[in-house]
Formats: sequence, structure tokens, C-alpha cells
Amino acid sequence: MLQAVTILAERKLKHVEACLRYPVEYETRTTGFERYDLPYCALPETALADIDTRTQLLGKTLLAPVLIGAMTGGAELSGTINRHLALAAQQLGLGLMLGSQRVMLAHPEATSSFAVRSYAPDILLIGNLGVAQLNQGYGAAEVIRAIEAIGADALAFHTNPLQEALQRGGDEDFSGLVAKLREVVPQVPYPLILKEVGHGLSAAVARSVADAGLAALDVAGAGGTSWAKVEEFVNYGQVRHHELAEWGIPTATALREVRSAFPTMPLIASGGIRSGVDAAKALALGAQAVAIAKPLLAPALESSEAVAAWLKHFIWELKVAMHCAGAPDLASLRALTLVLR
Ligand SMILES: Cc1cc2nc3c(=O)[nH]c(=O)nc-3n(C[C@H](O)[C@H](O)[C@H](O)COP(=O)(O)O)c2cc1C
Repeated sequence: MLQAVTILAERKLKHVEACLRYPVEYETRTTGFERYDLPYCALPETALADIDTRTQLLGKTLLAPVLIGAMTGGAELSGTINRHLALAAQQLGLGLMLGSQRVMLAHPEATSSFAVRSYAPDILLIGNLGVAQLNQGYGAAEVIRAIEAIGADALAFHTNPLQEALQRGGDEDFSGLVAKLREVVPQVPYPLILKEVGHGLSAAVARSVADAGLAALDVAGAGGTSWAKVEEFVNYGQVRHHELAEWGIPTATALREVRSAFPTMPLIASGGIRSGVDAAKALALGAQAVAIAKPLLAPALESSEAVAAWLKHFIWELKVAMHCAGAPDLASLRALTLVLR
């Protein structure tokens, strides 16, 4: 049993190591945000100090529309990373998405690395499970257990067929999962999200789960971390399948497509969100919030102060972008039309 915990937790640590050591971001594909500009306003009628970035997501108030992306859990080091992330999220009033809780469902002794509520009593805390687990005997009871064991407010299912296909021993059976989501989601009395891991949700995928009762979608598009690449580096120390590793729907494209298919569904934009300006553009394209993963990994290994410093700079950039586009709050930012370069 201990060995099984170790295998799942070790895989997580290999992912962390690969993300820190190798160039795991897309090389030939970008998020697409560089194709747009915010409309610049030389007489904005706003004061930078008064820019209001507060928003609501899944029933909680965020002081800025920013979530720390799903990363890790399971091993001792993951517990340290999660504690630093949680403390920074609490300090800045942001949300935190945790990494896959599969390991703690199978091995409850791994729960402590996810148990960050005491460090972050007020934040929007989002648990995480692979949607493919629904093909391996997991159902509503396990999802509820994952949420309640750590006092989360919600849970994100990640769907990642490309990553799993390239992972040694990965989950390769994604058949019937749309029907399983339709069956399980209504039985869970907490908000549930569907996310990719950096290869993007399309409008067609979003439409296929339209009636499942999900509370939000995170498009998690291409242009940032490629999880196909991460698996290649874990397996071979190099990328052997370049076309697969560079495949995905750019984040801006995924966001626009899914937004036009669902004008009212709360959307999270992630995958290659690297600056406050990226965030401003994503919000203007219809995202409720953005999520950032890999750039926060190294700071999270260091300290909660390092995570908070990275995020403060990001939020400052977002505020400058809003100010100089003449948008005093997020409603005004969302009403802007981006300029195609
Ligand atoms: C070290 C690391 C571990 C991750 N683990 C998970 C995970 O357990 N579950 C999940 O849904 N996504 C996971 N992700 C994917 C991120 O949540 C995100 O979708 C992806 O990395 C793209 O965002 P980025 O370009 O900002 O990194 C992980 C990302 C990183 C960097």
C-alpha cells in the first residue's frame, strides 16, 4: 500500500521536476493573445489606485480575478508547495486550485498534503480529479469525499487524453465520459468545473457537456505548459513526438469559441497566462477569471512571500492595463472590444 502511494506521489514529483528542469512550454504554438491589443486610452478618467479588480466566482469574492492553477499534492514536497500557495492566496484574496486528489482517495494518509484550509480559511479552494477516474469506479461519493476531506468549495475535473496517452501507464479510456459526467455532476451538491491541462477545450466539447450541470469551464488552452511535452521529458529526457507535443487549441481561440457557444457560462482562461496584460485581454474576451500554474511553481518551492510577490506584480500589471484602457472595474473591462493587430 505504501508503495502505491509512493508510485502516484513519485509521478507527481517527476512532473514537478520536469517542469522545473526542461523547456516544457510550447515552442511553435502561442496562446493567441498577442494577436490582440487592449484599446489604449490616453485620457482614461481613472486613477490607478482606484482600479477595482474584485469579482465573484462560484459564490465567493476574489479581490482580483486570479486563481492559482492546479498543480500538485500527494508527497511531502507537494504539501510544502500547497501550503505556500495557500498562504499567498489568502494574503491576496485569490483562489487556489489544487492538484489531482486521486492519490489521497486511494491512500487517505496522503490527505495532509492537500489540507490547506487552515492556512487559507477564506479563499475559493478548488479540489481536482481526473475525469478518466469516472471510468475506474469513481462516482459521486468519491467526488464528494475529495471535496469534503479538505474543506474545498468546489472541484475541477481535468480531462487530458493527450497527456494520458503519452504517459507511461496513463489512463487511455475516455469512452463514455460525457454520459458519466451527466450522471455524476447532478449528484454532487458542490460546484464542479471541467478543465483541460493545456491542450484546450473546444466549443464542441463544451456543447457536449452543456446539459451536465457544470458550474464553470476552464479552457486551459495551448501556448503555455504542454503536458504532452512534460510526459515526453519524464519518459525520455527529450521530446520524441513533436507534432503531438505541440498540439492544442490556443487559449485565446478556445476562450472565444467556448464563450460564443455559451454566452453565460462562467469561464476560466488558463494555459500560458503569463502577464497582467494577458489576463486583461482574457477578461475582455469573456473570462470570469484567469488561472496561472507553471510560473508559480518555482516561487512555491521557495516561500509564500515569493508566490505573493509574483502575483502582486501580475495584479499590478492587470491594474495598469485596466487604467490605461479606461476601465475602472472588471465590468468596464469586459465591455471593451479588443483591437485585432
Ligand atoms: C507542476 C504542475 C502540476 C500540475 N498538475 C495538475 C493536476 O494535478 N491537475 C490538473 O488539473 N492540472 C495540473 N496541471 C496543469 C495546470 O493546472 C494547467 O492547466 C497547465 O499547466 C497550463 O497552465 P500554465 O501554462 O499556466 O502552466 C499541473 C501543472 C503544473 C505546472
